[in-house]
Amino acid sequence: MTVDPSVARYATLRNLPPLAGLCSMEAAVHNNWSVEQSVERLKRLHYVLKRLHETFTARITSEPIYELKTAFSYHGYLCAEHVTAIRKRVGEMREPPLGLEKVPHPALERMMDEVLAARTTEELVAGIYSVIIPAVIEATRKLRHDAHPLADAPSVRLAKLLEFEFQEIDGFGQQAIGCLISAEAESRISDWRRMLESCLLAAGGLDGTGEATEPIPAPRYSQQPYQYQKEPQRDARFCDGFNAGVNPEAFLYDQRFQARDKTLMMYYKRLREIDVPEMMASILHELRDVEPWEFHMEMSRQLWDEARHAMMGEVGFVAQGLDWSKIPINFTWSRNLNLQLDARERHGVLFFIEQGLMPRTGKRYEWEVGMESGDPLSGMFQDFDWADEVLHSQIGRRWYVPRYGSLNEALAYGDRCWTKVVSHWREYLQQGLTQHRNWWPELYLAACQRWQVTPDPAALAFQQTYEDSRADLQKLS
Ligand SMILES: [Fe+2]
Ligand SMILES: [Fe+2]
Repeated sequence: MTVDPSVARYATLRNLPPLAGLCSMEAAVHNNWSVEQSVERLKRLHYVLKRLHETFTARITSEPIYELKTAFSYHGYLCAEHVTAIRKRVGEMREPPLGLEKVPHPALERMMDEVLAARTTEELVAGIYSVIIPAVIEATRKLRHDAHPLADAPSVRLAKLLEFEFQEIDGFGQQAIGCLISAEAESRISDWRRMLESCLLAAGGLDGTGEATEPIPAPRYSQQPYQYQKEPQRDARFCDGFNAGVNPEAFLYDQRFQARDKTLMMYYKRLREIDVPEMMASILHELRDVEPWEFHMEMSRQLWDEARHAMMGEVGFVAQGLDWSKIPINFTWSRNLNLQLDARERHGVLFFIEQGLMPRTGKRYEWEVGMESGDPLSGMFQDFDWADEVLHSQIGRRWYVPRYGSLNEALAYGDRCWTKVVSHWREYLQQGLTQHRNWWPELYLAACQRWQVTPDPAALAFQQTYEDSRADLQKLS
């Protein structure tokens, strides 16, 4: 479009940047944009991000690789944040019904169904990080370029923030592809990847700005509806996952032991929290069509926090020079909850446990132990862990408690659900799934060696298990 020369002659006071720095006057006099176009593009992005959030979440539990579990937790959360922002923006431009739950194009649905149903880790990683994420970034860049910088500044801002955060996801994804997908795997995947790319072509691009040049390809993995795999999987570094031979809470709350020694149990408890995303994913997946988007947004934040807590534990072990893969990071909590309870019951257990973290003996106590321990990293991690748990307790009060008559009823329900979970402690032993080996002395001795201190004989002799008590030290019947 040609611009009238008078536009170029326009001057601001003392040549200050015009238009609050959004753009030049030449860029601002263009008029080839509309609310309609903005809404259509945002809705397509919204659909893909919402489905991507669903995929990241659904695949956390069955994905064995720990680094992917934590990355899926983070990337799913980022998708949720941008879905929320887009929903708000569309709501600013349109009267309800906003039509946000409508599928914008069947080819996009096919593509997202296929990625959700990817058979292997390699396919999942390739589908998400080599097809979907680059397509999201491209659509975002185009939106940023095409949207009117002044009239549609709020959408341009959304696009900028989205692009910024998705470049980080893309950076992770490209590295992950390099680490996980061999040339041999690549040749197995390439057909399916091309099929995903055909879906994009059939949709006229993710944002619909291109010509629809191809028919929608036939489904390959998504002929049957996706089945969520509720049994948590772990990679080879996670040994002896059924082991419940050490009760870290019993150690932590025992007055006889020193704060310094307790930091090891706290790092263990943090790392073990990778079981919370594995369990929360099942709640989100089962309630995906039942609860409103706001529920999913807040619960995804909580899920991501729990993955962060696990990584804080991982960092703690690394900082202490201790190899966490030598000790069992138990997974029977997420496994039992996922296999024995429904989504509402699991949410009840989660709320009951998190509410129990609030009193004096809970997160404040862990922070005090960390601060007193002489290990400032432990103190800092517990400081933020505490802050996160306060948020989680509020999320529970918003999204769980109102389903029950009162806070007390909601708590009692959660407690009952937890009591219902059979721990199978003896069965695991009898079936030879674990010996419930007491791993504490070897971890403690290794730490004392690094600290160059003599082990406390009472701490070294600690041997309480989960055989007859839960993590909140309630006796099991
Ligand atoms: Fe946590
Ligand atoms: Fe939490």
